[in-house]
Parts: sequence; C-alpha cells; structure tokens
Amino acid sequence: MSAVLQQLDSALTGLAYSIWHLLTFPFSRSSRWRSLRLLSVCRDPFVLNRIALSRLLPEPFVITVGPLKSLDHNTSEYELVCLAALVKAASAERVFEIGTYDGRSSRAMAINLPDQGQLTTLNLPPGKSTNSSGECTGDSVLNVKVTSGKRFLDTPEAARIEQVFGDSATFDFKAYAGAMDIVFIDGSHTRAYVENDTEVARQLVKSTGGWIVWHDATLYGVAQYLKMQITKHGWPLRLIDGTTLMLGYCREGRIVPLPLAAR
Ligand SMILES: C[S@@+](CC[C@H](N)C(=O)[O-])C[C@H]1O[C@@H](n2cnc3c(N)ncnc32)[C@H](O)[C@@H]1O
Repeated sequence: MSAVLQQLDSALTGLAYSIWHLLTFPFSRSSRWRSLRLLSVCRDPFVLNRIALSRLLPEPFVITVGPLKSLDHNTSEYELVCLAALVKAASAERVFEIGTYDGRSSRAMAINLPDQGQLTTLNLPPGKSTNSSGECTGDSVLNVKVTSGKRFLDTPEAARIEQVFGDSATFDFKAYAGAMDIVFIDGSHTRAYVENDTEVARQLVKSTGGWIVWHDATLYGVAQYLKMQITKHGWPLRLIDGTTLMLGYCREGRIVPLPLAAR
C-alpha cells in the first residue's frame, strides 16, 4: 500500500513541477526561483504536519512547570510548558526520558505526575565525555558540563524521579519494556542514535498506547530521520506549533494517529 502511495506521490510531484514550468515560463528567473521555494516549503512535512498545543488540552486545565528559565542545551520555555502539559493531559503515570542533562525537563514532567507516578531519566555515566563506542560528540561532552539532574536534586519531585546511567545504544531497557505512557527522546542527536532511541521507545510504551516525543525534531540527525519516517513510511507525526517537539503515538509497537488530535 505504501509503495502505491509513494508512486502516486512521485507522479503528483512530477505533475506539479511540470505545471509550475508551464505557468512560470514567462516570468523572470528570480521570481521563478521564489515560487519554486514556495512549492517546496508547501511540501515540507514539518510545515504540513503540525498541531497546536491547545488541540491536546481539555478545559479547564492547570499545570505547574517548576523553574522555567532555559539555559544552554535545555528545551525552550514554551517547549517545557508543552512537555509538562502533555504529561498532565495524557494522565501519564510512567515517563522515560533519554537525555537528562541538568534535569530541568525531568523536573517539569515529574511535577505533573500523580503521587504514585515515576519518571526515569537516562544519561551517560558521570564523568564520561564519550559514548560507549569511545566517540566524542557534541552531545556526549554535555555530560561533563553539568552534574546530571542537578536541577531536580534535593527538590520534592526528586522522590518521583529515578536516575539511571548508560549509553542509550547499549543500556538494558528490559525492566521498562511496555510500561511507559510517554518516552521523551533528547539524548544524542545523530541520525543513528535517534533511530535506535526511537526503536527503544516503541518497545517501552504500553501496548495499549503511549506517546513518543522527540526534541530538536527539525534539526540535526533528528530531522533527517523523522522526515524519512513521515515521507517514506507514512508515520502520522505532528510538530507542536512554535516548538521543535514532534509528537507520535504508538500502540502495539506501531506508530498510529494521535488520539487527542480531534479535540
Ligand atoms: C540536549 S541534552 C538534554 C536536555 C534536557 N532534556 C533538557 O531539556 O534540559 C542531551 C543529554 O543527553 C546526554 N547524552 C548524549 N548522548 C547520550 C547517549 N548516547 N546516551 C545517553 N545520554 C546521552 C548528554 O550527556 C546530555 O545530558
């Protein structure tokens, strides 16, 4: 089925470009280029597949986000609000985060869990600036810039946060399989890591359904990987307006349409 859709998509793209050539033929070179750019923006999956946060929220709806100020390598302030809101709106009890850094996003999500809830956050082991294969990347060196989780240590939310250490490519996730309502992916941003972390996330969410959220979805290897999954494999993902947070919903290991999108 997806092969048929791909062929149809290629045929329609070819048709659109032929029509563009015919229609713009009389115009100057620069206006032809501008209109071509517009055509490609209109086909960009990050432009087409968006959702407003408000579509995911019931009314009335109250959240707490904790310390809001964004420092280097944190999510933006609005992205933090979105993460906190998703935890509450989904009535999540278990959350798994890949990429703790200073613990700001961990804390904002944990605050919105019920008393019995738990957030598990994974980061490279303390003091390690390389990943498990010995490679030093822009993301792996972040590990030695701050004390992992320092923004939730000694806070009331720490009781709901479990910190675990390892490389997401080699960590043993077995104990968490099928238990998560939400998996937040914000560790290494290379394409290979994002692919691995996404496969892990699909195994971690509950078989009855759970959310996968990618940070920096429009950047780095994350963008390359997600664009491919949307265009070639038809994943029904949605980018939250005004953010780089991509939302996916996974049931029985498969990415399916968002359940709250129709609200
Ligand atoms: C961008 S920061 C996470 C930011 C955090 N989620 C926030 O919003 O404040 C990425 C984190 O992932 C960690 N990291 C990088 N590569 C990793 C890997 N292969 N496995 C686990 N953690 C990794 C880095 O040490 C860093 O703490």
